[in-house]
Amino acid sequence: MDRRQFLKSSSALLTLGAMPNILLATPSEGFDYELIVAPADVRIAPDGNTPAWCFNGHFPAPVIRAKQHQPVRIRVVNKLAEPTTIHWHGLRIPIAMDGVPFLSQAPIMPGETFDYEFTPPDAGTFWYHPHMNSVEQLGKGLVGAFIVDEAEDPGFDADVVMGLKNWHIRDDGSFTALTTPRNAFRMGTPGRLMTVNGKVAPTYYIPTGGAIRARLVNIDNTLTYNIRGDGSDLTIVTVDGNPIATPRPLQQHLMGPGMRLDLGFIAPDEADQIVTLYHKHEVLVRFKTVGESKQRRALPRLPLNPIPTPDLDNAETIQFAFEWDASINPVKKDGKVNYRFWTINRKAWDGMSAKHIPEPLARLEQGKTYIFELANLTQYHHPIHLHGHTFTVLDSNKQRIEPFHTDTVLLGQNETARIAFVADNPGRWMYHCHVIEHLKTGLMGYIEVS
Ligand code: C2O
Ligand code: CU
Ligand code: CU
Repeated sequence: MDRRQFLKSSSALLTLGAMPNILLATPSEGFDYELIVAPADVRIAPDGNTPAWCFNGHFPAPVIRAKQHQPVRIRVVNKLAEPTTIHWHGLRIPIAMDGVPFLSQAPIMPGETFDYEFTPPDAGTFWYHPHMNSVEQLGKGLVGAFIVDEAEDPGFDADVVMGLKNWHIRDDGSFTALTTPRNAFRMGTPGRLMTVNGKVAPTYYIPTGGAIRARLVNIDNTLTYNIRGDGSDLTIVTVDGNPIATPRPLQQHLMGPGMRLDLGFIAPDEADQIVTLYHKHEVLVRFKTVGESKQRRALPRLPLNPIPTPDLDNAETIQFAFEWDASINPVKKDGKVNYRFWTINRKAWDGMSAKHIPEPLARLEQGKTYIFELANLTQYHHPIHLHGHTFTVLDSNKQRIEPFHTDTVLLGQNETARIAFVADNPGRWMYHCHVIEHLKTGLMGYIEVS
């Protein structure tokens, strides 16, 4: 293995692969990573290998750990037969590092290398993925967790990172269709094998009586998970990377593609006890206590992230309607069928190239506060994501909202929500639904901040 191959994350990855184990909080040091993007056969299905596309030849991908306010350098080497870029989902970083082809950088061509370097301003649970040919590149496995550790260690006894993905594979490991027009037109094509870190219902060992941070990342292309749990009092401590002002008990929590959830809990005070997380009634993961009790009584508190406070009194409101395309005729592009099913303000995203960059959906003035009124005029869920900014969800016509920070807001059937943020990051920022087949069939655009 290459010396520079994900220096720090290798130990975390091996820990996740080998069981039984005890996952202790991982200290951060050394922020240099190398990600090699290439095809690799991986074992996920019961009866055979899957011809996946992976970071560094493994699934799960290396967990990248950076530290808040400290620079991290990541070299990406493209060994695919097609171009790619890597996007750091949820991180408020300069546009040149955002990993969107044409808007922020040239595509990384086969055989080429690109160095990303940035300083994460916020701590929390984020993730990374390509921003080209997304149905296939993400669907085949190019999805990984990106953890930014707090400047001061909050002091959990264990920190477990879990990527949720419902693989589109058969029992023999071969891929089923990652997309079908019929499903792209609806909720997206569901996978068939529900996994956590590439395993079906794995068991992780946690210290008895310890304070546990369980980080869930929805790295799936399609599925909205409905998270529930039992075996301990589970507390929502962060939503989509950001600590919430008042941690609250987990009843159930909907997590659309791209969204994250950190749960805190005190592990049972006896060995061999089980805490379980579910998607609806299906087991996602079990935690089993081992060792002497840590006898923790309370969860550590997480500091809030330094998100600028929107100036609501002087905000400008912009409306966005998410709708079906009235003319659902496939467009032929270089012999390829190009379906257009969805629109934002009646415009379907038609892709871009070095020569053709479409107009932005909105032009924002740098430093000013904006309220976006997001109306889902369809009967399907849309997790709406904005790059480069963290916004505050203010309210919704369908649910009571305790305002919170996020980069991806899940709009249910016919739901209208208002979000607010300070447009403080200059650049052209993608703005799209994170159901990958939806963004591929029109539900995408960008806003320009200058
Ligand atoms: Cu998770 Cu445009 O990205
Ligand atoms: Cu993003
Ligand atoms: Cu959508």
